[in-house]
Order: sequence, then C-alpha cells, then structure tokens
Amino acid sequence: MKTLALSSLLACLLAGSAMADTLRVGTSADFPPWESVNESGEVVGFDRDVIDEVCKRIEAECAVANQAFDGLLPALQVGKFDMVISGMSITEERAGQVDFSHAYAEPPYRFATKAGSGLAGIEKLDELETALEGKVVGVQTGSTHEAVVRAHLSKSEPRLYERNEQIADDLNAGRIDAGLLEHSVWEQLMEAREGQLELTGPLLSSADYAEFGNGTGIAMRKGSDDLKKRVDDAISAMLADGKIAELSNKWFGYDLSYKAK
Ligand code: ARG
Repeated sequence: MKTLALSSLLACLLAGSAMADTLRVGTSADFPPWESVNESGEVVGFDRDVIDEVCKRIEAECAVANQAFDGLLPALQVGKFDMVISGMSITEERAGQVDFSHAYAEPPYRFATKAGSGLAGIEKLDELETALEGKVVGVQTGSTHEAVVRAHLSKSEPRLYERNEQIADDLNAGRIDAGLLEHSVWEQLMEAREGQLELTGPLLSSADYAEFGNGTGIAMRKGSDDLKKRVDDAISAMLADGKIAELSNKWFGYDLSYKAK
C-alpha cells in the first residue's frame, strides 16, 4: 500500500512537471511547405518539424494551434501562445513587440503573376516595379510583403488577404495582377495550379527590400528569457549539426538554413 501511494504521488509530481512544460505554439497554416494542414487535420511542414525538434531538445511538450497570421503576435502577447513559428521574418518593428529566437532560416522572395500576362517574364526589379504601377498586388495582411508593397510600390494597389492560397486563387482567376511571397511558397502553390501562375522579376532578399527583415525566427513574449535561452541554444545546435539543413532539404529540396552574417 505504502509503495503504491508513494509511486502514484511520484507519478503525479512527474505529470505535473511535464504539464507545466506544455508550451502552446501558434502558426498560420496557409503557407506550404512551411506549414499547412494535411488531410487528417494536422499542421505539417518545415516549421512543424523545426518546432517539434526544438521542443524535443528543450524537453518540453508542445501543442501547435492554427490561426490567422495577423492575429499571431497579438495572441502571443496576451498569453494565448508561448511561441509563434510561422515563417515569420525577424523585423525591427516586430522586435519592438515580441522577442525573437536566433534566426533558423532565410528564404528568398519573388513576385508572381498570371502566366502569359503582361507582367510575366520581366527580369529586372526596377522594370517590374514600373510595370506594377497601377496594378493590384495581393499580399497577406500583416506580412512583411504588405510592408514592402506599401513602402516601395506606392503606385500599386495592395490587396490584403487572410490566407496565402487565396492570393494564388485570385491570381489564377485574374482578379489581381501580381502577388508577393516567399519563392518556396510559390513553388508549392504553383504545383497545385499547374501552368497558370508564373514567377516574375528576380529572386529578392532584404538587400532589395529591408522590410523583409533578417531571417526567420520563433517569436516569444517579451520577458520569456529562460525559454528564449533554451530555444536559442536548440536552434544554434540544429544549425551547427545540420538538422535545419536536413529538414529544409526534406521540405524544400534545398537548404534555406540561416547563415550568420
Ligand atoms: N515572412 C513573412 C512575414 O514574416 C510571411 C510569413 C507568412 N507566414 C504564414 N504562415 N502565413 O511576414
């Protein structure tokens, strides 16, 4: 009897400490192959694998929940989530509101248009910018893409979308002229809409548009110093031991690991 009571007490204590470490993670799963929802309703993708590996290395249970991109940081700030992983670029503006982990990835960006449209096949960025004057450019609400269009394409009209797939659908349907996204996301969205979307202009980085920020990181509430340290250590180790490169190759077919500047 005595041993039983003791072992169940121990089990409770262990369960309690594990539960205290269940971290809630927010993502906007409209961004394949970074994050999307599969047929069984699970969030899958590069970020999903990254966060699962981070949680394993920091010995935490993590529960991933899906919600609209522009609500992710407010939800983090009010304590609905402990972390946000969502292909989220580290920008100065966001860093004023939340803390970011070390960057784990650094993707290039690209404009896309409807195949065969007057905007297709433009090589130089300044020519594309001129061609986009008076045109409608689809971007996700609250994204760095929105910031880029507002800052650099003042003569174009941004059209805001909650979900990135809607941008691809509206481009296909000819309802908008162009869209701006991570190149890796276009690749995936184009595969599902064969032949109807076309990339245009050069691959873009923050050297072209500073609003793209400095790599992709995991956001945490300000003041989560202990968690941030553990997550940073995990990411540094995953960059050093090739885990990020492995997951990137698995999901993108190439390596988007962040390279220290
Ligand atoms: N990198 C861009 C940003 O941080 C877009 C991220 C969009 N992510 C998503 N899961 N929809 O604003």
